Amino acid sequence: MYKTLLTSLENGIFTITINRPDKLNALNRDVMADLNEVTAEIEKNADIKAAIITGSGQKGFVAGADISEFLGLSSSEGVSFAKTGQDIFFKIENCSKPIVAAVNGFALGGGCELAMACHFRIASDNAKFGQPEVNLGLIPGYGGTQRLVQLIGKGRALELLMTGGIIDASIALDYGLVNHVVPQDDLLPKAKMILEQIIAKAPFAISKCITAANAVFAEGNGYDVEIKSFGECFETEDMKEGTTAFLEKRKPQFKGK
Ligand code: COA
Repeated sequence: MYKTLLTSLENGIFTITINRPDKLNALNRDVMADLNEVTAEIEKNADIKAAIITGSGQKGFVAGADISEFLGLSSSEGVSFAKTGQDIFFKIENCSKPIVAAVNGFALGGGCELAMACHFRIASDNAKFGQPEVNLGLIPGYGGTQRLVQLIGKGRALELLMTGGIIDASIALDYGLVNHVVPQDDLLPKAKMILEQIIAKAPFAISKCITAANAVFAEGNGYDVEIKSFGECFETEDMKEGTTAFLEKRKPQFKGK
């Protein structure tokens, strides 16, 4: 049914595995379309009480948006790229049933943004988090500038955003970016154990917990600023250099243009 996702439903818990392990589960257009569809399925299917999003393989949750799709985008195409992604991630964030990210490896760029759009996060001890878009002459476009500030505070978020730094699971735990860190084999069992507790409660009350908690950070102007700024990055030579350098497996030479 899905081109890029594996799904399984057991005792009301729907496990969604992003399945592009050869590309560390990078979010290309197909994955984003599937994530959009699967979120609608979670809402629609009464047998689904809660969901887990994870990545295929032992190494990657999601290593970002698929950088090969950035090449050649104009500024307005960058705007629409970010808007489309933000809309899908809002659906995950505002889903009336709990969605947990089980982060089993690299959660970088769009991967960190996807994990942050979920209601909470559990990580394996090899997980790594970051928003390295500045290395490409870019900024996050799927809500990362907003949700990272919400989750870990402005100072820590800006340091990560501006250095493009990557943190390991223990620092992510310390920052409050993840709720639990467990060995990789325990990751899905831990997520399921917590979700079993949640789905034993009244579903309406659970959905209202989500609505009320999200209302603290009501969708505001910051997301629009992110979309506009993301688009503007596509007007720069540095962005073309950053993405080309990644694909050519070399260090970028930024010129400030
Ligand atoms: N987009 C497209 N392809 C990606 C990708 C991304 N975001 N992240 C990884 N890949 C691909 C690599 O190009 C490589 O493909 P290839 O085997 O066809 O060459 C494959 O996934 C494996 O990645 P590789 O870089 O060889 O693994 P590694 O262990 O050496 O490094 C990372 C892992 C995560 C550090 C590295 O892949 C990376 O820096 N990825 C980009 C992270 C990023 O900038 N994300 C934000 C994007 S907006």
